[in-house]
Amino acid sequence: MFAVHPTGAILGATIEGLDASRPLPEGDFARLLVALGRHGVLRLPAQTLDDASLRAFSERFGAIQGSVAKEAETGHAVAEVGVLSNIQENGRYIGFPDAGQDWHTDMSYRDVMGFVNVLYGVTIPRRDGRALGGTEFANMHAAYEALPAAMRARLAKATVTHDFNQYWENARRHGADRPPLTDAQRRLRPPVVHPLFMTHPLTGRRVLYCNPGYAARINELPEDESAETLAFLFTHQTRPEFRWTHHWTEGDLLVWDHLGTIHRAIGDYRRDEPRLIRRCQVMATQVFSPDFLAPVHAAQAAM
Ligand code: SIN
Repeated sequence: MFAVHPTGAILGATIEGLDASRPLPEGDFARLLVALGRHGVLRLPAQTLDDASLRAFSERFGAIQGSVAKEAETGHAVAEVGVLSNIQENGRYIGFPDAGQDWHTDMSYRDVMGFVNVLYGVTIPRRDGRALGGTEFANMHAAYEALPAAMRARLAKATVTHDFNQYWENARRHGADRPPLTDAQRRLRPPVVHPLFMTHPLTGRRVLYCNPGYAARINELPEDESAETLAFLFTHQTRPEFRWTHHWTEGDLLVWDHLGTIHRAIGDYRRDEPRLIRRCQVMATQVFSPDFLAPVHAAQAAM
């Protein structure tokens, strides 16, 4: 049995008494999902995980996405533990540097959208005793509920095109150290369409499913009105009152819900201040299925 300690802010809770390297009984996993829906971001401190246990824990939530570069190179998707890092060995980064520094939701650019990210903090940069390279989140249940009622009604059935290349090129313009996507990579990540608002499978409440990184167009509106509305939504969804930042400690395992939050990595550390995070990006391959949700609903009813 583990304990859930909410941060008291708009997002976030610490889970105490859960060893993520061991298989989780179904009842505990269901309670963890209830906490995830409620708090959006869960911190499991002081974990000791190798890639196999990180991967096994992550796969409880759904299938893990592999990197587009490897998929383009090998011709097939490889589920894997990714590495986010600015550390270089022999002149090459040991992982993906500058990842995620603009507001976004992972895998909103895929047909099967993202469900959770699972990140394990290995090396955290510090200056003057203060942890750097935090991850900031915004609450999309709250953002939806705070939208003007007339806008919620007018856009109730609207859909949005999400574009992987748009984010990639923006990151390059902002100085991210990465080459343009190749033609093969672009073919593997074509633009996709999702509803602007949807019902969150864990909470049953409506969320705003849109993000500045990947959302390119509201399909039912003329181009100029789409651009104006997206600009409004991007400002709205990142309002300070919806935001909360996780400050990392080595050994933190952070699990967050992509359907109810957006996030960005804070690039406030230098290239010579090492940061190393291991990451599994988990797709929503299961979370909408009644079988997956049944134990969650049972746990909610028992609370
Ligand atoms: C991400 O966007 O998944 C990366 C977040 C981080 O490195 O803090």
